[in-house]
Amino acid sequence: MATSVLITGGAGFIGSALARRLVGAGYDVAVMDVLHPQVHGEHGAIDLPPSVRLCTGDVTHAPDWDAVLRLCRPSQVVHLAAETGTAQSLSEATRHGSVNVVGTTQLLDALSRAAHVPDQIVLASSRAVYGEGAWQSGSQVFYPQPRSHAQLASGVWDPHGPTDLPAIPLPSSAGRTEPRPTNIYAATKLAQEHILAAWTAAHDSRLSVLRLQNVYGPGQSLTNSYTGIVALFARLARQQRALEVYEDGQIVRDFVYIDDVIAALFAAIERPASPQRCLDIGSGTPTTIHELALKIAAICHAPEPVVVAKFRDGDVRAASCDIEPAKRALDWLPQRALEDGLDALLGWIGEQPESGVGPGDHTPLTALLR
Ligand SMILES: NC(=O)c1ccc[n+]([C@@H]2O[C@H](COP(=O)([O-])OP(=O)(O)OC[C@H]3O[C@@H](n4cnc5c(N)ncnc54)[C@H](O)[C@@H]3O)[C@@H](O)[C@H]2O)c1
Repeated sequence: MATSVLITGGAGFIGSALARRLVGAGYDVAVMDVLHPQVHGEHGAIDLPPSVRLCTGDVTHAPDWDAVLRLCRPSQVVHLAAETGTAQSLSEATRHGSVNVVGTTQLLDALSRAAHVPDQIVLASSRAVYGEGAWQSGSQVFYPQPRSHAQLASGVWDPHGPTDLPAIPLPSSAGRTEPRPTNIYAATKLAQEHILAAWTAAHDSRLSVLRLQNVYGPGQSLTNSYTGIVALFARLARQQRALEVYEDGQIVRDFVYIDDVIAALFAAIERPASPQRCLDIGSGTPTTIHELALKIAAICHAPEPVVVAKFRDGDVRAASCDIEPAKRALDWLPQRALEDGLDALLGWIGEQPESGVGPGDHTPLTALLR
């Protein structure tokens, strides 16, 4: 009998790509998703293979869980359902706490009511749990406080270190970097990790936590104004608009292509943890936002990006990760270089029906934190 996998949030960007990969490999896949209008539009657009059982339900709602677990008793649960707006989370903390934290405890209580313990739970966590992450100044490693409004307003972009030497950001690594969330979304993702670690340990189940960097690629929402600088830049550049790059352009992120993330999730399912692991998933290559803007503008033959020295309170300065542990644990290697991935994304966007990004609509820059 085919191994069964339940994907919560499985109609979303990552979930639907994972469902396609699993179905292709012969898994029996069920999806639980509320088809959130912010992600799927008012008409609930989805792109799932016909063999996937789609259970429309809310992870915060116990009766929905009971209905899902009456339909399937999954060998593995991949938990992706989440509220993902980092900036939104600071003004809608309850919404994020409810879906991300209570939604996770509802999953566990439903499993207990159904007397079912999956072999493994896989959680898509986020690099956001690290906040500003670890930096180095001279030989000293330090954890900077979030940058203050006054600091940013005076154009001091990098955190101050404990020595007079310049401070350098270090790639995050689950094995050595302390999580220090700086927004509610990040705090809820870390809470998910702790909750699932406690439950799976107590029930002799297994847990794989994958802390994802910035995921991009075909299939990402183009209507959700909170999910991603890459899609936003791509759409603006396609309209021949000059991209505005904040601060001094040197904000760093790791942009990882959707197929590489799916390969990591797939490997985590195929090779379950023994019994728990936490891995960083990215391309392994830090990129500045200015570099990203230049690459996208070049592909689209758009005007030169402009570094505007504007800033957004709450943005972390640098995010990248050490992917060596994930490469070893999952026998996985990211394949897609940023240029190729951007080409694929832009090609896909060109095939989508137009829906304009309004002038001055730079809200999604806040999604950098994600
Ligand atoms: N995309 C990224 O760059 C990124 C980075 C780090 C972590 N993650 C994590 O990966 C996971 C998936 O992200 P994504 O990019 O596919 O997001 P997405 O918004 O495309 O998908 C999330 C899905 O969850 C569903 N959902 C939301 N609330 C729900 C609820 N109450 N009940 C049931 N379903 C609900 C939505 O309808 C959507 O289909 C999330 O947990 C996110 O925190 C994503």
